[in-house]
Amino acid sequence: MKILVTGGTGFTGTALVERLVSEGHAVTALDYKEGLKTEELRRLGAEVVIGSVTDRDVVARCMDGAEIVFHLAAAFREMNVPESFYDEVNVQGTRNVLEAAHASGVRRFIYCSTCGVHGNVDDPPAAEDAPIQPADYYQKTKYEAEPIVNEYFRKGLKTVILRPAAIYGPGDPERFFMIYKRVATGTFPMFGDGKTYYHPLYIDNLVDALMLAMEDGKGDGEAYLIADEEYVEIERLVREVGKSLGVDVRIPHYPVWPLVAAGHVCEKVCRPFGLTPPIFPRRVDWFRQNRAFDISKAKRDLGYVPRVGLSEGLKRTAQWYRSEGYLSPVDSQDSQSYSKAG
Ligand SMILES: NC(=O)c1ccc[n+]([C@@H]2O[C@H](COP(=O)([O-])OP(=O)(O)OC[C@H]3O[C@@H](n4cnc5c(N)ncnc54)[C@H](OP(=O)(O)O)[C@@H]3O)[C@@H](O)[C@H]2O)c1
Repeated sequence: MKILVTGGTGFTGTALVERLVSEGHAVTALDYKEGLKTEELRRLGAEVVIGSVTDRDVVARCMDGAEIVFHLAAAFREMNVPESFYDEVNVQGTRNVLEAAHASGVRRFIYCSTCGVHGNVDDPPAAEDAPIQPADYYQKTKYEAEPIVNEYFRKGLKTVILRPAAIYGPGDPERFFMIYKRVATGTFPMFGDGKTYYHPLYIDNLVDALMLAMEDGKGDGEAYLIADEEYVEIERLVREVGKSLGVDVRIPHYPVWPLVAAGHVCEKVCRPFGLTPPIFPRRVDWFRQNRAFDISKAKRDLGYVPRVGLSEGLKRTAQWYRSEGYLSPVDSQDSQSYSKAG
């Protein structure tokens, strides 16, 4: 089949494109800018179109002949942009992709939303009908696109919404790497009691779910939380990362509220100067936002089974950080970890 993946050079996009190509599909990836990943995708055999989902002409052009669309492109970590940028990419951009898909008769449209639309989960684990309470503009704009997806479903486009939990695994150069990098030093400062729930999602499990959503008659017009089998308290997560690295990590505790205040101040001070703050509210939320989800609906309707468990996923991820030079290859907390990015 001819398949369009927006955000194909991203962490999830690359893994999905690789799977699709290996299963014999003709893949076009729409991406924002040229880079190392675009070359990687071309080597895999995908076509890469450079352009933005905010540009309707580019979107219409790469929709040509597509039977399936995976819409993964999103403004996610951009710090030095006005909040309206998130709206342009995540809401208007999604509308553009839906409009073009509908106009060109695409068979299925899979929108990658986020579990973050549920914000802090008050009553864990949350199912899809739990309160929608996005906690920041990223989560808010990801949610605002969902009713637009449903609008196009009512117009006849077969749509499925997936709300992934915290994605990790080989290929992720940033998010979990921050945890690994800190744990590798042998000490992980914990702000708060460490009992906040966190729900990881190993990249291969997510790709499995995306592939299932591609099948005709599965999940039409529905939304699904996608996560690993188990959620964990963040202190346990840190210890499990330690195990995956062979590090017996020390976890001193500190109060969280000073960090929350500092996050707000840093963001306010840095933004006018176009600087990325060292800490900011979304990062601090990691210590205090409960994320634990019930994935029964995806199991029942899509046949989703998270194949890779936490300790195996963390071990594979640790191996990848070491083999790619993100972490020192030595299995000891005496070793120095370092970031490729410096
Ligand atoms: N990572 C998580 O834990 C997580 C959790 C829940 C949901 N999600 C959602 O899952 C999806 C994939 O996440 P990810 O972590 O794989 O994201 P990612 O690595 O940040 O990739 C996002 C991709 O979108 C592209 N992009 C950004 N703005 C664009 C635009 N205007 N036009 C075209 N392409 C654009 C980026 O291209 P450039 O790199 O060239 O800018 C990048 O390739 C996203 O929709 C995200 O919201 C992620």
